[in-house]
Amino acid sequence: MAFVLVAALLSLLLLLLLPAQWKLWPKLSSRTPVNSQGPGALVTAAPEQVTQPQHRAPAPTLWPSLGDTYGQDKTYCSSKCPSSIRKKIMATEFKDIFLETIPVLQWAQHAREDEYQRLRRYTGAHGWKEVSWDVLKASLSLLNTSANGFLFDTHIQGPGAPAPCIRCAVVGNGGILNGSRMGRTIDAHDYVFRVNGAITAGFEKDVGNRTSFYVFSTNTMMNSMNSYAAEGFQHPPQTPETRYVFLPDHDRDYLLLWAAVTHQRVDRGRDKGAWPQKYFGQDLLAEKFKMLHPDFVRYLRNRFLWANILATPWWALYRPSTGAVMLLAAIHTCDEVSAFGFLTPDYQAYSDHYFDRTRKRVQFFTNHDLKKEMKLWQRLQRSGLLSLYTGKEGT
Ligand SMILES: *[C@@H]1O[C@H](CO)[C@@H](O)[C@H](O)[C@H]1NC(C)=O
Ligand SMILES: *[C@@H]1O[C@H](CO)[C@@H](O)[C@H](O)[C@H]1NC(C)=O
Ligand SMILES: *[C@@H]1O[C@H](CO)[C@@H](O)[C@H](O)[C@H]1NC(C)=O
Repeated sequence: MAFVLVAALLSLLLLLLLPAQWKLWPKLSSRTPVNSQGPGALVTAAPEQVTQPQHRAPAPTLWPSLGDTYGQDKTYCSSKCPSSIRKKIMATEFKDIFLETIPVLQWAQHAREDEYQRLRRYTGAHGWKEVSWDVLKASLSLLNTSANGFLFDTHIQGPGAPAPCIRCAVVGNGGILNGSRMGRTIDAHDYVFRVNGAITAGFEKDVGNRTSFYVFSTNTMMNSMNSYAAEGFQHPPQTPETRYVFLPDHDRDYLLLWAAVTHQRVDRGRDKGAWPQKYFGQDLLAEKFKMLHPDFVRYLRNRFLWANILATPWWALYRPSTGAVMLLAAIHTCDEVSAFGFLTPDYQAYSDHYFDRTRKRVQFFTNHDLKKEMKLWQRLQRSGLLSLYTGKEGT
């Protein structure tokens, strides 16, 4: 009798001491449709996978489908810049989550059946679940030039060139830029990144006029054209230097890319009939387009912007915001990054966007966690990996 009581007390104690994820896991996974090959197959099927470090990753595997296993790409591993982010990062709090060989872009070499089997398990921007093999293959195969596999202009990295540090300005659309007069500072960088409703005309003094990279998903671009037409956003920037960086989160993105590079209208789906020249200008060369790799977005979600919603049945709704993916892509590819127009703790002092005609409160969305992103920018700033514009008094 006493023995039973002691045993019961002991198991209760053990249950209380177990980390939360061990208790949650069976409950949540019993509601998930189990993959026919089982979660183990998911890990072993990946070619050239990076194994998750045992002791460090931030409890990312509550849902087996989060997939903290990635392909490998060494494109950005060899910077000769002495002050590069990649040289500094291993001495910061980010050393445990940073993966040196995480793929940033996807292009023709990824249009393979084995890669398709691996990535079709992941939904939205994190994989290829919503994209058929035919659409994926036809679209990605078009990205077969050296410019598609590397974010920057290849000539800068040529042999014999004086190993430059690539300095990037990443421009969000935050109201903090209204009246900032940061335009010249922004344009003086080697590359300028912009996102979604990036309007420069009329705001050059505050935000500059160059756009090297326009980062978007087809959905966010179309939404921006609908929402900010009155503020002057007719289409994405179309300057000679502008390159278009898709954050694909649906087959819409692959269909639009295919239409652009083959100079045709979108031939099916929600955007059927859309004319790519309207968005990207007349000069539609394959070299002008890049696509972020689903492994990269999944890695950012799992390791940099893990949010509590991922431990709930609504996990699939969540992804890092397009602006956050843009800034973290810069941090993984540039040697130095300055960010402008991203959320700061005093965001209530500013309008939502720098181009707002009347003052609007900052909008938060259920599919993103902008406050978590704001805290990440602060941490990157404190670690010396990011120079974040924090208003007229500081920088
Ligand atoms: C790239 O793809 C295009 C279109 O399919 C093709 O015409 C071209 O020859 C390919 N280029 C290379 C370098 O494979
Ligand atoms: C940006 O402004 C500079 C200086 O006024 C001008 O020389 C340049 O052509 C402009 N660039 C674009 C892309 O509008
Ligand atoms: C932008 O700044 C100007 C000058 O400080 C101010 O009058 C205006 O209200 C601001 N716009 C918004 C939308 O907050």
